[in-house]
Amino acid sequence: MADRLKLGLAGIGTVGGGLLRLLEAREAVLDARASRPIEVVAVSARSRRKKRSVDLSGVRFVADPVALATDPEIDVFVELIGGEEGVAKDAVEAALRAGKHVVTANKALLAHHGAALAALAEKHGAALNFEAAVAGGIPVVKVIREGLQGNDITRVYGILNGTCNYILTRMERDGRSFADVLKEAQEQGYAEADPTFDIGGFDTAHKLALLTSLAFSTRTKFDAVYVEGIETITPADIEAADDLGYRIKLLGVALRTDSGIEQRVHPTMVPKDTAIANVDGVSNCVAIDGDYVGDVMLIGPGAGGGPTASAVMSDIIDIARGGILPTFGIKAKHLRPYKKAQMRAHEGGYYIRLSVYDRSGAFAAIAQRMATHGISLESIVQRRPEADPGRKGRRGRDKATVVMVTHETTEAAVRKALAAIERDGHVDAKPQMIRIEKL
Ligand code: NDP
Ligand code: HSE
Repeated sequence: MADRLKLGLAGIGTVGGGLLRLLEAREAVLDARASRPIEVVAVSARSRRKKRSVDLSGVRFVADPVALATDPEIDVFVELIGGEEGVAKDAVEAALRAGKHVVTANKALLAHHGAALAALAEKHGAALNFEAAVAGGIPVVKVIREGLQGNDITRVYGILNGTCNYILTRMERDGRSFADVLKEAQEQGYAEADPTFDIGGFDTAHKLALLTSLAFSTRTKFDAVYVEGIETITPADIEAADDLGYRIKLLGVALRTDSGIEQRVHPTMVPKDTAIANVDGVSNCVAIDGDYVGDVMLIGPGAGGGPTASAVMSDIIDIARGGILPTFGIKAKHLRPYKKAQMRAHEGGYYIRLSVYDRSGAFAAIAQRMATHGISLESIVQRRPEADPGRKGRRGRDKATVVMVTHETTEAAVRKALAAIERDGHVDAKPQMIRIEKL
C-alpha cells in the first residue's frame, strides 16, 4: 500500500464527530478503497476539554486551526468549523497556500469566496473539495462535476435545507408549531449554529450559489440570489395549499433565461403528485435538467452527522486516490462572470392569501386591481369559516380570508397589484404571496 494519507481535522462537532466515528468503524474497508491508510493525526476545536463521543487519546490537539492547516505533518486539511469569515477562512487559505489539499463542508465560505479559493487551490496544485457543502449526504457535486460534464444544464433546483424541510413536514403532517419543530431540528444537529441561516433561506442560498457555479460554470455570486425564508408560512397557508393540491417546500432554483441566470430561494407551491412534493423530513432533493441526459433527480438525507460524514469521506478518498479536479469542474480562470436575471422579470403562477375586511365592494376592488395589472386569476375563493380562525381584524372589524391563484404572470405585476390592494385599505395585514413552480 502507498503512504498513509494524514489528515488534520478542524472542528469535531456534529460533522467532525460523525467523520471520526466513520473512520473508526470502517478503517480497514476505507483504507482498501482508498488504496492507502487514512489517519487523523491532529485535531482542532474550540475546547480541548469538552467531553467527546469519540476516543481522541493519541491524537494531537492543536489549539489554533490556522496552525493545524499548515502543520508539516498533514497532507489534507479538513475544515468542519463553519462560517464565511474568520478562522475557517483564514485556515483554508493558509492550508491552500501551503499546498495542502482541503476538504470542507462550509457552504457559507464557498458561496462568498468560492472563485477566489478555487483559484488559490489551483495556483498551489491543491484540491478544494466540498461535497458535503451541498445537500448533505447527496453526492450532487460529484454528479455535476463528473457525471454530467457532457451536458448543457438549463436548470438546477431542489430542496437544499434539511432543517426547513423537517419543519414544513412536521407542521403539515403533525400540526406542530414552527418553534417546537425548529427546536427538535436543532437537537438532532441539523440546524446551523445560527438557525436563522436555515429558516431565513440563506443556507439554501449558499448551496444554490455553489450549484449555479457547478452547473453554469460561472463565478459564485451569493449576493445575486433572491432570498425569502419560511418564517411567514402559517398553518393557514399549509392547509390552503393542501386544498388546492399543493405542498409548500423551500426551494432553491437556478435557471438560465434570455437575460441571465435567475437564482432564487423562496417557499414554493409544488403539485402534490410530484416527486419533490413527497421529499419529507430532513431529506433533500436536487433536480438537474441537462440537454443530453434529460432530467436527473437525486434524493437523500440533507443534514446530520452521518450523511454529512459520508460526503466528507468521499472527498477524502478521492484525494487519497490522487484525483484532483477543478473545484467547480472547470479551471477557475475559465469561470464566467455571473450575469443576473432580474427577479421582477420572473414568470410563473402565484398563490396569494389576503385577510380582507368583510364589507361590500372589497372583493370586486381586489379583483379589479389584479385585472388592471394584467393578472388573470385561475381561482379566487373565500375560505370556509372553520378554516379561517381569528375572524376579527384590527379595531374588531370582521374579516375573511381570501385565497387567489393566478395564471402565469410576472413578479413585477404581482408586486404592483398587491401594493395597490394594500393602499386601497381593504386588507388587514400584509398579503401573503407564494410562488408556484412549473416542474
Ligand atoms: P458544530 O457546531 O457541531 O461543530 C463546530 C466545530 O467547530 C466544533 O467542534 C467547535 O469546537 C469547532 N470550532 C468552532 N469555532 C472554532 C474555533 N474558533 N477554533 C477551533 N474550532 C472551532 O457544527 P457542525 O458540525 O454542524 O457544522 C460544521 C460545518 O459543516 C459547518 O460549515 C456547517 O455549515 C457544515 N455542515 C453541517 C451539516 C450538519 O448537518 N450539521 C451538514 C452539512 C454541512 P467545540 O466542539 O470545542 O465547540
Ligand atoms: N443546516 C443545514 C440543513 C445543514 O439543515 O440543511 C446541512 O447543510
